[in-house]
Amino acid sequence: MVVMVGKKVLAISGSPRNGNTDAMLKRVLDSARESGARIELVKLCDKNIEFCDGCDRCCKAHHCHLVDDMQMIYKKIFESTAIVLGSPNYFNNVSALIKNFIDRMNPYYEDERLKGKKVATVCVGGQSYESIKYCEQALEQFLRICSMKLVGKVWATADARREILENEKVMQQCFELGKKLVEE
Ligand SMILES: Cc1cc2nc3c(=O)[nH]c(=O)nc-3n(C[C@H](O)[C@H](O)[C@H](O)COP(=O)(O)O)c2cc1C
Repeated sequence: MVVMVGKKVLAISGSPRNGNTDAMLKRVLDSARESGARIELVKLCDKNIEFCDGCDRCCKAHHCHLVDDMQMIYKKIFESTAIVLGSPNYFNNVSALIKNFIDRMNPYYEDERLKGKKVATVCVGGQSYESIKYCEQALEQFLRICSMKLVGKVWATADARREILENEKVMQQCFELGKKLVEE
């Protein structure tokens, strides 16, 4: 049973470092907290998450047989009223951490609890939008397949570890995104 008390915004970071993605996600969460929501950041790199083994049993069973930290992340996703997914752009795509997270969502892509759930995306790469757009699109395809509701997105160019903190415009966009995730 999923119990939702008030608003809860969950951020999921696919960066393996404490860099630009995390800085942007933290700004989104700060704003969501100011708007009255409970918040949580999950860094996929800190979790024990096995690769999807393609067993395909989840298509019928609607749960994953792998016993690892994804089980706790599923619960957090269902208990959240809104989610923000963040990925660095790696080779014009999401990071491997995010791709494996997406694959491990296979048991639930038709789950009623995901339908219409509010989600925002944050993508950052060292190059221009011409490169970053594919990362954004990969996240959007996942949300579309799961029938989740994309309520906003922020993308940014930054390469050095916490360079994005100097970009006030982008950090303000992240702040606005946080409000949007908490609004009705
Ligand atoms: C393996 C790898 C591949 C990358 N590929 C791209 C790329 O194709 N396009 C791009 O814009 N930036 C690329 N980058 C740069 C990162 O997206 C950039 O440094 C970003 O700020 C990293 O985010 P983070 O600080 O949250 O980890 C790549 C970085 C790494 C480590």
